[in-house]
Amino acid sequence: MSKKIVKKVYKKFKSSFEGEPLMVFAPGRINLIGEHTDYNDGFAFPAAINKGIAVAVAKSNTSSTKIVALDKKETYQFNLSEVKQLENGGWRNYILGVVGEIQKSSIVLGNFNMVFSGNIPGGAGMSSSAALENSVAFALNELFDLQLSKKQMILISQKAEHNYAGVKCGIMDQYASMFGEKGSALLLDCRTVTSKPFKVDFKDYKLILINTNVKHDLSESAYNNRRAACERVSEMLNISALRDASKESLQAIKGDISEDDYQKALYVIQENNRVLSFIEAAEKDDILSLGKLLFQSHEGLRSQYKVSCDELDFLVDYAKEYDGVIGARMMGGGFGGCTINLVHKSVLEEFEQKVSKKYRKKFKKDCSIYKVKLSQGTHLVSL
Ligand code: GLA
Repeated sequence: MSKKIVKKVYKKFKSSFEGEPLMVFAPGRINLIGEHTDYNDGFAFPAAINKGIAVAVAKSNTSSTKIVALDKKETYQFNLSEVKQLENGGWRNYILGVVGEIQKSSIVLGNFNMVFSGNIPGGAGMSSSAALENSVAFALNELFDLQLSKKQMILISQKAEHNYAGVKCGIMDQYASMFGEKGSALLLDCRTVTSKPFKVDFKDYKLILINTNVKHDLSESAYNNRRAACERVSEMLNISALRDASKESLQAIKGDISEDDYQKALYVIQENNRVLSFIEAAEKDDILSLGKLLFQSHEGLRSQYKVSCDELDFLVDYAKEYDGVIGARMMGGGFGGCTINLVHKSVLEEFEQKVSKKYRKKFKKDCSIYKVKLSQGTHLVSL
């Protein structure tokens, strides 16, 4: 958690509104492996990180609700009886979405004032939107004593994403951001929506994220299309989700589906298996195998699931050729954002310099490199 943003948000709240606010921090997430498996009821291995969103909130006795997006220097005021999705609403839709989805369960909310700020780079595939949704759900739950469980809150956050942001996302981002544990990644079973924490020790290797600093258009419709393709194949297989498919059962219907759908479903089956192999390798401290699985995951995301892009491929290809980098892959939904890399500490500095230089030369723009700590999920904070 970043104390700095918490203080900044508190200060802004005190200078803008009456009363003493309740403070919440909701982290972003990384995902070690298991991409596009969550909405297939599969496995993923995410972790909450030490970057996130801080919120200050208090009840208001005025007749409207006011939100200050500190980083954007924007304020939005709305009436709780008229909550609906906005066209091009940006950050507003995440908040309206959470409020609207809470209201759908017949809960009557009172007016509130809220200030928020964050330090998750936008479009980096580190789930700034899930962090914002969770921070609002958690804050309102505390403020109005709604008695929602964490699981109910993440389902509200997910619905906000579906119905207000228009992305039919799975549950991984909201789950990791809510349930993250310090120092651990979570082996998440997206069917039961339960997880097991694992302390992964990468020994002499460091985990770094490299942000392409691009987010290509159409990523939202492409995401929803991928999900629809998976559902089409599941239907053909007469199963509720690709979690229940095997290479053999898929092979049996190969002639009845497009090659494209076949490859996408095959990717999901393989990626699910990779998550389980990753856990096995981690339990045996077999770091080299972890790296190989990352490269394989990327290859599947690139050539079968088709959610990568030139910038991500360039970073992964460069990592693959680099002595001391044992694994890399794109992370998150795709079409931009970050790669996640396992780099031997002896070459870390040199790799960072070289990859940055090469990237700049190739794309005429800078990439950004982050080191993150696996951290606690959404929680109340005191100053
Ligand atoms: C986005 C979605 C998640 C998940 C990933 C891909 O981050 O929000 O639900 O599907 O993409 O693994």
